[in-house]
Amino acid sequence: MLTTILLVLVVLWLARSLLSDVSLNPFSTKAKEDDVVIEGKFTPKTLAKYNGTDHPKIFMAVRRRVFDVSQGGSFYGPGGPYANFAGRDASRGLALNSFDLECLTDINEKIDTLHNLSSTEKESLDSWEEHFENKYPIVGSLHEND
Ligand code: HEM
Ligand SMILES: *[C@@H]1O[C@H](CO)[C@@H](O)[C@H](O)[C@H]1NC(C)=O
Ligand SMILES: *[C@@H]1O[C@H](CO)[C@@H](O)[C@H](O)[C@H]1NC(C)=O
Repeated sequence: MLTTILLVLVVLWLARSLLSDVSLNPFSTKAKEDDVVIEGKFTPKTLAKYNGTDHPKIFMAVRRRVFDVSQGGSFYGPGGPYANFAGRDASRGLALNSFDLECLTDINEKIDTLHNLSSTEKESLDSWEEHFENKYPIVGSLHEND
């Protein structure tokens, strides 16, 4: 009897975990809210709030395209190894294989044109870009601050 109850509980729990990612799940209001992408156009300033602190979504820009990297929260969330990239244009950091703050452009500045990357650095950025294309959805594009 106890075994049956435990079994039912485990099945329910599994079903719930599986459903929690799906926006159709009628029990999950959180998923619905999170699925709404408010804007397809971002600027360095508007992108910054998606750094995993105040907003549940984590976005990151690569070559002016904005990826939803929320699924990689352990990489980009607060305290994660690549948290610096969250809510930011990560292009130069990816090209240089560095998460140093100096690879990031201040959110009040113009978007980094990447004009001075070497061909090796460009190739590095290319392969990162491919990695993200295969892994994360694109939710918008990055434009200059107003
Ligand atoms: C100390 C050296 C480093 C170690 C041990 C390390 C380790 C790792 C590991 C284990 C992964 C996960 C791979 C996977 O499961 O797909 C990863 C992913 C990644 N690493 Fe590193 N890493 C290092 C340096 C760097 C540097 C310098 C950068 C700067 C650009 C970087 C950027 C990334 C990015 C962007 C990802 C992909 C995360 C994603 O798929 O969203 N890593 N790293
Ligand atoms: C993340 O964004 C919030 C504002 O939404 C800001 O207060 C916080 O300092 C940012 N965190 C980092 C690490 O930049
Ligand atoms: C390339 O340009 C960026 C910003 O435009 C600058 O911070 C960086 O020092 C430059 N790097 C080289 C190697 O010239």
